[in-house]
Amino acid sequence: MIKNLLKISQQYTAKQMRTGKDITPVQPFEEASPTKRPFSNKVSDAHQTYPVKLTFKNVCMEVSSFQFVNGPDNQKVKTLIKHKILKGVSGLALPGQTTYIMGSSGAGKTSLLNILSDRISKRNGTNIEGTVNINDTIPLNDKVFGDFAAYVMQDDILYEFLTPREALIFAARLKLGGDEDQKLQRVNEVLEELGLISQQNTLIGSVKMKTLSGGERKRVAIGVEMITNPSLLLLDEPTSGLDSFKALSIVKLLDKQAKKGKTVIATLHQPSSEAFKTFDRLILMVDGNIAFQGKASESVSHFARIGFNCPIHSNPADFFMKILSVNYPKTEEDEKVIKTLVNGYDTKYSTKNFVLVRRKHN
Ligand SMILES: Nc1ncnc2c1ncn2[C@@H]1O[C@H](COP(=O)(O)OP(=O)(O)OP(=O)(O)O)[C@@H](O)[C@H]1O
Ligand SMILES: [Mg+2]
Repeated sequence: MIKNLLKISQQYTAKQMRTGKDITPVQPFEEASPTKRPFSNKVSDAHQTYPVKLTFKNVCMEVSSFQFVNGPDNQKVKTLIKHKILKGVSGLALPGQTTYIMGSSGAGKTSLLNILSDRISKRNGTNIEGTVNINDTIPLNDKVFGDFAAYVMQDDILYEFLTPREALIFAARLKLGGDEDQKLQRVNEVLEELGLISQQNTLIGSVKMKTLSGGERKRVAIGVEMITNPSLLLLDEPTSGLDSFKALSIVKLLDKQAKKGKTVIATLHQPSSEAFKTFDRLILMVDGNIAFQGKASESVSHFARIGFNCPIHSNPADFFMKILSVNYPKTEEDEKVIKTLVNGYDTKYSTKNFVLVRRKHN
């Protein structure tokens, strides 16, 4: 698989890698062999990043459960209720770029991120459809995910009685092969990348036992996953609970990781305008649909085209959150706005047409 990923990276020009335009799969290549784990457990691999293009097509998620609803004579009747959480969403994320997923609460951001990392619980009553591929041909599933990707958990699962240094050493021993010196060297590199050298020996703590700051704790949580230098990094709400200054520093850290060639995908709630300026790609979700997907720099003009003008000098992220907010249960007005937003979404940004655009150049 490494060989194939390298072959792909050599075919792309720097401009293609930056813009995502005209990136074509070179040729089909085999799925990673489960017996040969190409990335994860060698310290030497921790210095190599491979270009990973992630594509998802027509992803649907529906959950069904029995609920008691009012029937005739006001009697409670056990009824099967189906809830469509994702309604056929398609899109992509590219190497060397950050892709942020935003939208109102309950829009389906975490559900989508969990499907992209094959972490969704496939318990009875949950139905998932659609495809998620790496570099167009490798189906992404939990067997290959660990070879080149990582999912950053919330920071509250960190061991509060460890220091950042100890937490990273623990992760390195667990996830990397090689000798102890190499692992320690990797720990030092990550501490430096995270800007945590001066806090490396402070206890991580927790919300209750306050030692490291919230922003520093988030950095440690990211560092635990960065130890293997994953080429694809997924994060759910990496800035939640942080003030805008600390949130910006996390967004800058993610931007730095992307510019090293990684594919970074994260959900975010309320980024500042300065944080928004660093975004490469943006996926905006409303009620299980995509309302916009493409370069973040083109998002404001897209909404202006369909009649939603972002006031000058205001933060586009705040504006998007305002127009995408939906109250549940949905009112008629909500339904109308959702329809306008979803119908106004130009499908030229979707994966399907992305492929068609590419074909024209072949
Ligand atoms: N397994 C499940 N069973 C039932 N409902 C679910 C399940 N998973 C998600 N949902 C519902 O689907 C909707 C989308 O959930 P999701 O967590 O993806 O939203 P979100 O956009 O991440 O919201 P937030 O911004 O609040 O984190 C919510 O209404 C949630 O209650
Ligand atoms: Mg969420």
